[in-house]
Amino acid sequence: MLLKFLAAFLLVLGFATAEDPYRFFNWNVTYGDIYPLGVRQQGILINGQFPGPEIYSVTNDNLIINVHNSLPEPFLISWNGVQQRRNSYQDGVYGTTCPIPPGKNFTYTLQVKDQIGSFYYFPSLAFHKAAGGFGAIKILSSARIPVPFPDPAGDYSILIGDWYKTDHKILKGILDRGHRLPFPDGIIINGHGPNGTYFTFDQGKTYRLRISNVGLQNSLNFRIQGHKLKLVEVEGTHTIQTTYDSLDIHVGQSYSVLVTADQAPQDYYIAVSTRFTSQVLTSTAVFHYSNSARQVSGPIPAGPTTQTGWSLSQALSIRTNLTASGPRPNPQGSYHYGLVNVSRTIKLESSAAQVSGKQRYAVNSVSFIPADTPLKLADYFKMVGFLKLEASQITPLAKRCTLTLQSWVLISEPLWRLCFRTMRTFCRAGTWMDTPFGLLEWMEANGHQQAETNTTLEMQSQEAPPRFIPSHGQLYT
Ligand SMILES: *[C@@H]1O[C@H](CO)[C@@H](O)[C@H](O)[C@H]1NC(C)=O
Ligand SMILES: *[C@@H]1O[C@H](CO)[C@@H](O)[C@H](O)[C@H]1NC(C)=O
Ligand SMILES: *[C@@H]1O[C@H](CO)[C@@H](O)[C@H](O)[C@H]1NC(C)=O
Ligand SMILES: *[C@@H]1O[C@H](CO)[C@@H](O)[C@H](O)[C@H]1NC(C)=O
Ligand SMILES: *[C@@H]1O[C@H](CO)[C@@H](O)[C@H](O)[C@H]1NC(C)=O
Ligand SMILES: *[C@@H]1O[C@H](CO)[C@@H](O)[C@H](O)[C@H]1NC(C)=O
Repeated sequence: MLLKFLAAFLLVLGFATAEDPYRFFNWNVTYGDIYPLGVRQQGILINGQFPGPEIYSVTNDNLIINVHNSLPEPFLISWNGVQQRRNSYQDGVYGTTCPIPPGKNFTYTLQVKDQIGSFYYFPSLAFHKAAGGFGAIKILSSARIPVPFPDPAGDYSILIGDWYKTDHKILKGILDRGHRLPFPDGIIINGHGPNGTYFTFDQGKTYRLRISNVGLQNSLNFRIQGHKLKLVEVEGTHTIQTTYDSLDIHVGQSYSVLVTADQAPQDYYIAVSTRFTSQVLTSTAVFHYSNSARQVSGPIPAGPTTQTGWSLSQALSIRTNLTASGPRPNPQGSYHYGLVNVSRTIKLESSAAQVSGKQRYAVNSVSFIPADTPLKLADYFKMVGFLKLEASQITPLAKRCTLTLQSWVLISEPLWRLCFRTMRTFCRAGTWMDTPFGLLEWMEANGHQQAETNTTLEMQSQEAPPRFIPSHGQLYT
């Protein structure tokens, strides 16, 4: 309530000064003890918190986030899904900007321009994400923009993810040596193991739950005993409102659902379990009615387990509500994609190999090594000579097993179609997906400054539901 009032106040102030409101954050990143699965381990805390503090914002707010790195090593934070218009160099994956050196601080300046929705931030270097440092980002619609559902009685962020009791440095070593991560030790829900988190609901009221999979590798199914989930938003887009018994949420995705507390007044299980694994891990939280007469009871509701078709059908059922108002990306004025002539189609394919004893992943056989000057910074400061790549290097798809260790970047042309194929897909592996969806999201997160380059990229990833594309890949080096 106070936040809402504050938001309204800031908005009025924003109009009065003809400038969008500012929100200031001062964060201290430290190591500290956490006990997510009941045993002590070293976690990454932000202002002493695990998960980190939630960022609450309203469309067009300027977020000024001063991050002090008190870890003994470099730290970098990425703002998953924030479009970073005009300052994509602040996105915070390695190669876009520099890590914060130990003992130093850096102030991120982000504007959630024309955005709404549910997102999260996470550390993008050194497998720090396996130790914490992540948190929810909420972007509320501004007061004058109608939201296609009644104001919920409450708005909870639920960060779910697979979790290891093993220190993140050891996990990183396993990956570096080319082995797969072991099976996780558990699933955490807002930093806690089974029954460790309570969410309180008033009977008869409807709440918004924003669920993000902040884990490392496992797709998770989310469900609530005796209650339905009405999907209303996926990563900044209002969806056709469809009701589900459970939802698959893949790593990196964020979904908003409405849940009505319309059952008998007692406590119910919120269940989260792994997908596509032969051994199924399940964790629970408690959906608590404020007038509850009984503790959680009965069997934990079961979800789908290894079925991939189920997941694909669900992903395909998720559609944008084209009549719902709300900010939509529109970077170059009215843009009719159907009328633009494709000048070139670029096909990208992922592969993996061991190079110099270290596991590397590659796109069209080109892997990644950090540039001395992050490419996005070079771009931002209009430095020349950094962005060089022969067209021939990105077109061929020969499956070479030796990788070239170099950074690569796409240079602007009027319209490119970018097709992406990954060998680690849970379905339809090996088939080219080539659809126009996700175009804007990807372009804005990772494209060059569009006004200057007029570049349009099309990309389709199979790791996500076809309509919603993660804003960038996660790359651990
Ligand atoms: C961050 O926290 C550590 C540990 O509590 C403290 O020593 C340090 O002074 C803090 N730094 C800032 C900038 O607040
Ligand atoms: C570091 O933090 C101080 C305040 O604690 C601030 O004045 C300074 O601008 C910050 N530096 C950077 C590079 O963000
Ligand atoms: C789409 O949004 C409109 C406008 O807010 C709303 O009236 C309608 O119910 C929504 N449709 C669906 C199917 O969710
Ligand atoms: C959660 O708590 C209930 C009792 O309150 C218990 O029966 C159940 O086993 C617990 N679930 C887990 C996964 O620990
Ligand atoms: C696309 O190509 C057609 C046929 O050459 C041409 O008539 C049309 O103007 C082009 N569209 C754009 C947006 O350049
Ligand atoms: C981008 O479009 C504008 C307007 O059509 C044009 O003047 C400019 O030359 C284009 N820039 C590039 C790099 O193609």
